[in-house]
Amino acid sequence: MTELLADRTTTNAASTTMFRIEGIHTYYGDSHILRGVSLELTQGRAVGLLGRNGMGKTTLIRTLMGYVQARVGKVLADARDVTNYPPEKMARLGIGYVPEGRGVFPNLTVKENLQMSARAGLNGERDWTYDRVMDTFARLKERCNNRGDQLSGGEQQMVSIGRALMTNPRLMILDEATEGLAPLVVKEIWRVIAEIRQAGVSTLIVDRDYKKVLAHTDHAAVMEKGQLVVATNSAQLLAQPEQLAQLLGV
Ligand SMILES: Nc1ncnc2c1ncn2[C@@H]1O[C@H](COP(=O)(O)OP(=O)(O)OP(=O)(O)O)[C@@H](O)[C@H]1O
Ligand SMILES: [Mg+2]
Repeated sequence: MTELLADRTTTNAASTTMFRIEGIHTYYGDSHILRGVSLELTQGRAVGLLGRNGMGKTTLIRTLMGYVQARVGKVLADARDVTNYPPEKMARLGIGYVPEGRGVFPNLTVKENLQMSARAGLNGERDWTYDRVMDTFARLKERCNNRGDQLSGGEQQMVSIGRALMTNPRLMILDEATEGLAPLVVKEIWRVIAEIRQAGVSTLIVDRDYKKVLAHTDHAAVMEKGQLVVATNSAQLLAQPEQLAQLLGV
């Protein structure tokens, strides 16, 4: 297992590190949750974060985003120390975050929800306009004047992803974006995730469907009890059913 930690097959010399998590320890009160996690997020690379329930995936994302403070360790953005920056500042460094459990304003329309999130990317990019997001989610087009509370769970998830895209991020973080959704909607979300990747946006994906995660990412990291125990090439890991069974209980 440990030799895989040294595997860097998907990182070529030209890849640029956007964010680097270094030896992070995070606590909830006295509970020591993250125990020395390091992870690199590079330009254009899709990373899958796997692990059984309660292993610390969401906590890692929340620590990177600044919703939870790291007690030890560093978060770097373009080599600058941004450890424990607040979420709004982290978002401005180019991260679009689709949290577990959505977060759509119920009293605003689809259009308002999307437009209130609009902003240029780190280098002034305005690639993801309202129209492009509407084209990406054809289903939302028909619902653009509906309020958040009139949407189905799937439509709310689409708005949540759309809102993150409207910030023109260089990294999209999707935590359980397909959770509890009907199969057709799940399919639609994975199609959009592929489109985001194709557009050159980096992704960090957490999802219960490990096969889909591995199919939609270049690199995979597996967490166990607050530590990263495997960091490897996604396709390579997919080809190791015994190891997956041991790590994920699948
Ligand atoms: N707000 C909190 N306060 C205290 N403990 C928490 C809190 N949130 C999570 N935990 C604990 O931290 C550990 C890691 O939880 P986390 O949500 O990061 O796991 P996860 O890998 O995202 O799990 P899941 O697959 O269920 O989403 C778990 O033991 C969980 O019970
Ligand atoms: Mg989680």
